[in-house]
Amino acid sequence: MTTLHQIAVIPGDGIGREVIEPAMEVLEQAARQWDFTLAWTTYPWSCAYYTEHGHMMPGDGLDRLAESDAIFLGAVGDPSVADDVSLWGLLIPIRRAFDQYVNLRPLRLLRGIDSPLESLGGAVDLLVVRENSEGEYSEAGGRLFAGTSMETAIQESVFTRRGIERIMRYAFDRAEERTGRLVSATKSNGIIHTMPLWDQICGEIGSERPRITVDSYHIDALAAYFVQRPETLDVVVASNLFGDILSDLGAAIVGGIGLAPSANVNPDRTYPSMFEPVHGSAPDIANLGVANPIGQIWTGALMLEHLGHPEAGAAVVAALEDVLADSDIRTQDLGGSASTAEFTRAVLDALRSKR
Ligand code: NAI
Ligand code: MG
Repeated sequence: MTTLHQIAVIPGDGIGREVIEPAMEVLEQAARQWDFTLAWTTYPWSCAYYTEHGHMMPGDGLDRLAESDAIFLGAVGDPSVADDVSLWGLLIPIRRAFDQYVNLRPLRLLRGIDSPLESLGGAVDLLVVRENSEGEYSEAGGRLFAGTSMETAIQESVFTRRGIERIMRYAFDRAEERTGRLVSATKSNGIIHTMPLWDQICGEIGSERPRITVDSYHIDALAAYFVQRPETLDVVVASNLFGDILSDLGAAIVGGIGLAPSANVNPDRTYPSMFEPVHGSAPDIANLGVANPIGQIWTGALMLEHLGHPEAGAAVVAALEDVLADSDIRTQDLGGSASTAEFTRAVLDALRSKR
């Protein structure tokens, strides 16, 4: 009997709805070739759903998602609904309720993609491990004396020993599997309470893991290294805010936001993890059939890896690279003229020869 995985699908809005089906088609074919089964359950939760029902997902939405082995999400957001409503009504509740405390963003220059940094010569292959549950993105704080000349805003960061230890351990594990090198993003010269704790715990865990080489860089210098010498970086661990910025910067140096995959991971597997590309719903190109499906397909490859099918996941990424390197079929964000469907067809053809 083949392994069966239950996948909850949330296409969302805009190009989310246009790239999810092509990606599902590619993953389906990988499943057939590697002999496992993906059972999809699609939920229409989105801004359109909000407009009709007054909420982004029904009251039992999280319970329904909890039954799945993974969540595959397109993108959520529409100009008719405030972005904080769509984000805090769907994505954030899922990330928090399912304790997806790792946001994983691989950044690799695919064969056939030119980096805006021409001198790179194809060497970028790094993994940003972003803390996804606490840090700078917290609800602690408030606004005082609103509307007066004394108006004051206070926004607290929350860094807990438990939160830092678990993201560090995860990052050290990834470094061990890869090249044994870890870079930690800090700013302990300017942020003098939370970042020294971050550095201290990084050092503590580092002393348990002598095989891993750890460098701590201040975030400003590290941002420059992403541009000047990204080939020297491998696994980068960062707090919520620093990781957010670094991974978008990283996406830019490896070809743009339409290509970038991401995973919200619950490493303990007590709840499903959620796989979504970095890009949003792109209302400016929605309904034209021209969205780049690479980010969504690559995200799907990360999901296959998480579900225990690393070979199938690697083959999907290799198929993307074959199309980019061996043909000029590409979507318009990469300077081509292929539609989403045409590019996907080429990926399916390339995948077919992989096993
Ligand atoms: P965006 O990523 O949707 O678009 C930024 C630019 O990149 C646009 O010019 C767009 O056309 C282009 N682009 C993005 N993905 C592309 C793809 N696959 N192929 C070709 N071009 C692509 O970011 P933006 O404009 O800031 O946000 C639009 C909406 O998406 C907002 O409502 C926002 O809240 C939401 N959003 C949702 C996210 C999610 O669901 N995780 C993440 C980011 C934004
Ligand atoms: Mg971001």
